[in-house]
Amino acid sequence: MNDLLDTHAAEVLEVLSVGIMLADETGAVSYANRAALECLCIEREGLKEINIRGMFRQNAGKKDIMLRTKGKDRITVRLNRITLSGGCSVVVLTDITEIHQLEQELLKMDKLATVGELTSGIAHEIRNPLAGIKTTAQALKGEIPDNDHRVAYISRIIVEIDRLNKLLLNFFDFAKPKDLNVQACDLKRVIEDTVFLMQDSALRNHVQVMEFYPPGQISIRADSDLLQQVLMNVFINAVQAMHSGGRMEVHLADKGSQVEIIVKDTGKGIPENIRNRIFDPFFTTKPKGIGLGLSISYRLVKMHSGNISFATGPRGTTFTITLPKEVAM
Ligand SMILES: Nc1ncnc2c1ncn2[C@@H]1O[C@H](COP(=O)(O)OP(=O)(O)O)[C@@H](O)[C@H]1O
Ligand SMILES: [Mg+2]
Repeated sequence: MNDLLDTHAAEVLEVLSVGIMLADETGAVSYANRAALECLCIEREGLKEINIRGMFRQNAGKKDIMLRTKGKDRITVRLNRITLSGGCSVVVLTDITEIHQLEQELLKMDKLATVGELTSGIAHEIRNPLAGIKTTAQALKGEIPDNDHRVAYISRIIVEIDRLNKLLLNFFDFAKPKDLNVQACDLKRVIEDTVFLMQDSALRNHVQVMEFYPPGQISIRADSDLLQQVLMNVFINAVQAMHSGGRMEVHLADKGSQVEIIVKDTGKGIPENIRNRIFDPFFTTKPKGIGLGLSISYRLVKMHSGNISFATGPRGTTFTITLPKEVAM
């Protein structure tokens, strides 16, 4: 054995960034290095409570566990157990929170792509006969005199066809992984334009809209039409969450290489049991909702190499959109 290693083994273990725990043949843990204690969020005295037999079924194995750390969010820790001579074992702990999150995001993107293909196929098949129905209805309308009471029925048919067409366009939007039309855009302008477009629906719902901008211009390279679509979805959701009126705040902030758009509402919040589903395609809690707004927004933000997240509680919900100033192509 190397003398130097002999002398410094304990010290080396303490400075490692992976967690190491040693357990005797009964599974009782007798040592854990600093990284392991940090990972598990326990003090050295707490080690007595741990028995790795309870953690693993077999003698050797791998296992991922979720832990809630003090003051921090949930983390995912991978435990690897290796049996040493004499029945003792060493458990290696690695914080794989980031890998886990990336895996989840990839899964989500994959699911979105599949749903996208399916919806675009169906939407296409519906659009053609629908166009035929509309033409026929218009022809019929032309044939009967204006004062005939049946004109109203036909007009109604045409209005409903238009509504269906709009819905289908939504599906197309969702399906097409559009090419980004990246240009320099003045974010304040993009936000102001979007607020202008939703002002009516805010008024109708007694929602006061407040905008907060830093001094000077914030310009980023992005597809402004798509950004507007993202903002619109988030704004409309905010308004719809405030049944008896309220306040929606939009904050724009410069964060160096990134920008941050925060949308706060004073609505009812998002119940805990659906928080992990709101970005899923077709997930909606609204009687007339389609459930595509957030999944489309998620995709569009990701196409910009940005991020969209939220925090919510009984006093309202805050969506945070971060975008790089320069989209990586
Ligand atoms: N600001 C918000 N406050 C409360 N719930 C929200 C908010 N934004 C989104 N949600 C929830 O997320 C669901 C999905 O939103 P979205 O994808 O836009 O679809 P839709 O608006 O058609 O329901 C909504 O039905 C709602 O339950
Ligand atoms: Mg919506």
